[in-house]
Amino acid sequence: LLRLKLVPVQGVPMLKLTADNWPEIEATQARPDDLIIATYPKAGTTWVSEIVDMIYNSGDAEKCKRDAIHVRLAFIEATFPGLPTGVQQLNAMKPPRLGKTHLPAQLLPQSFWDKKSKIIYVARNAKDSAVSYFHFYKMAKVHPEPGTWPEYLEKFMAGDVAFGSWYDHVKGWWQKTRDHPILYVFYEDMKEDPRREVLKLLRFLEREVSDEVLEKILHYTSFQEMKSNPMANYRTIPDELMDQNVSPFMRKGITGDWKNMFTVAQNEKFDEDYVRKMSGSTLQFRTEL
Ligand code: A3P
Repeated sequence: LLRLKLVPVQGVPMLKLTADNWPEIEATQARPDDLIIATYPKAGTTWVSEIVDMIYNSGDAEKCKRDAIHVRLAFIEATFPGLPTGVQQLNAMKPPRLGKTHLPAQLLPQSFWDKKSKIIYVARNAKDSAVSYFHFYKMAKVHPEPGTWPEYLEKFMAGDVAFGSWYDHVKGWWQKTRDHPILYVFYEDMKEDPRREVLKLLRFLEREVSDEVLEKILHYTSFQEMKSNPMANYRTIPDELMDQNVSPFMRKGITGDWKNMFTVAQNEKFDEDYVRKMSGSTLQFRTEL
C-alpha cells in the first residue's frame, strides 16, 4: 500500500490501488442529479467540497460535521483496503449524491457524460499546485517517494506524478466545458473573493440561500476554520497513511507560496516549458494576487 510505484491507466500514471480497480471505476453509473467536483490534486478540492456540502445542508455546520469530508463526498477512484470503494460509496448514497475525482477528463467514467451530471472543476496555478503536491507526496504515503524538491519538480513537469500531467488535466477539462455542464473555477479567484465565488457556485447549482446562511458558509469554509476542523482537515486518517507531522493537510492555503520553493533558475526553466505546454490554450492562470 505504501510508497508503491504508479501504474499507467490508458497512459496516465495512477496510484496502483486505482489502477487495480479500474474496471469497477470505469463502469460507474451516474445520475443526472449527481454533482461531481473534479480537480487536479491540490487545487482546492476539499475547500470546494466543504462549500458544496454546506450549501446542500443549508449552512448547517453541525450536520456537516457528522462525517469526515472524504465520507460526505464519494472519492470515485478511491480503493483503500478494508473500506468500501469510492464507487460503492457513491452507490450507497441517497440522491442528490456528491462525488469527487482527480481523473483527467478523458478517464471520467462515461456515464457522467451521458447523464449530463453537473461538474465543478477547480483549477489552481501550476506553480502553487506543484509545491502543494510536493508536500502532499511527502505526507501521504500512498504516493511514491517524491525525492528532493528539484527531483520532484522535474517529475511534475514531465507529468510523471499521480493523475498525470497538470497541463493536460487543466486543458482537457477546459475543452469539456464546451459541451457539458461544467463550472470551471479558479483557486486564485476563491482566495481573492470567496463571496463572489460562492455566489457563482450557488447559481450553477440553482440554489439560493439567505444572507445569514451565506455568512455561515463563508465563515465555516475559511482556511482557519477548516484547518481546525477534524471533519475537514483529514486528521481522522491514520498517520501511517497521511502523516500530518510531516506536513499538515491544511498547510498554508495561500497563492504565491511557490516563491518560497522555486529558485530563479527553476522558475525560468518552468516558465519556458509552460509556454510550450500551454500554447494554443486560452486558459489564463494567476500565480500571485
Ligand atoms: P497548500 O498545500 O498550498 O496549503 P486539495 O483539497 O485539492 O487536496 O487541496 C489542498 C490545498 O488547498 C492545500 O494547499 C490546502 O491548504 C488548501 N486549502 C484547503 N482548504 C482551504 C481553504 N478553506 N482556503 C484556502 N485554501 C485551502
